[in-house]
Amino acid sequence: MIYMPRVWLVAVIAALLALFATIAYLQDAHRSAAPVLPVTFAHLDHQQQQCIDCHHNFVDRTGIGLCIDCHKRDKTVSHLMEAQFHELCQSCHIENYSQGKDHGPTRACENCHTSDPYP
Ligand code: HEC
Ligand code: HEC
Ligand code: HEC
Ligand code: HEC
Repeated sequence: MIYMPRVWLVAVIAALLALFATIAYLQDAHRSAAPVLPVTFAHLDHQQQQCIDCHHNFVDRTGIGLCIDCHKRDKTVSHLMEAQFHELCQSCHIENYSQGKDHGPTRACENCHTSDPYP
């Protein structure tokens, strides 16, 4: 009977470790699934562009999925999302604007960061 407490101790430690691992996993999953700022984007406004200008994942072997899901989940790029998406979206709008063409929002946050009814 003298070893029972040790067995219990081991069991308790194992249970705690499992619990911590589960919490860490759930928190990580939660972080990955956490909503990003809403963005309004309509394909109807972007019919002049080629699909692959934005959907690079179909040609560069990064794989399939939705832009935001992937960019939020993939730790090699998740910390770059703000910079990369601003670069993609705003640089084209700014370029078109400077050429006097139709363009989307160049700067005003709320013109992009608002939810929309489009897919
Ligand atoms: C041309 C559209 C556009 C404009 C203008 C714009 N953004 Fe963004 N922004 C995006 C997109 C697209 C993303 C990436 C997807 C997302 O966050 O939903 C993004 C991402 C972000 C993120 C990271 C979001 C996250 O949840 O990690 C922040 C913060 C942000 N923008 C702030 C701003 C601020 C502040 C301004 C104004 C100074 C601004 N944005 C203007 C399109 C825009
Ligand atoms: C200017 C950039 C851009 C271009 C060009 C573009 N897309 Fe997209 N597409 C996006 C973004 C950003 C999303 C993410 C959806 C959202 O946030 O509303 C998306 C989402 C999608 C989805 C998933 C929609 C959903 O909610 O399940 C499909 C399918 C799609 N695009 C097809 C296309 C096709 C086909 C073309 C070419 C005819 C195209 N896209 C051109 C940026 C673009
Ligand atoms: C399957 C995952 C995945 C999907 C889906 C995806 N991306 Fe990416 N994206 C990546 C990865 C990984 C990189 C980094 C690639 C590299 O560095 O070579 C990247 C890079 C980028 C960059 C930076 C490119 C550069 O040259 O600096 C932009 C902008 C971008 N993605 C936008 C989008 C948009 C918009 C969509 C949806 C229309 C999308 N991505 C869909 C994984 C994905
Ligand atoms: C390669 C060029 C290009 C890229 C990349 C691009 N856009 Fe645009 N965007 C345009 C053009 C051109 C228009 C104007 C369309 C029109 O007026 O018919 C536009 C219009 C818009 C509008 C509508 C503005 C309004 O006044 O109704 C929004 C919102 C927008 N873009 C968001 C985005 C977001 C978010 C991204 C990145 C995910 C993006 N755009 C990427 C070219 C681009």
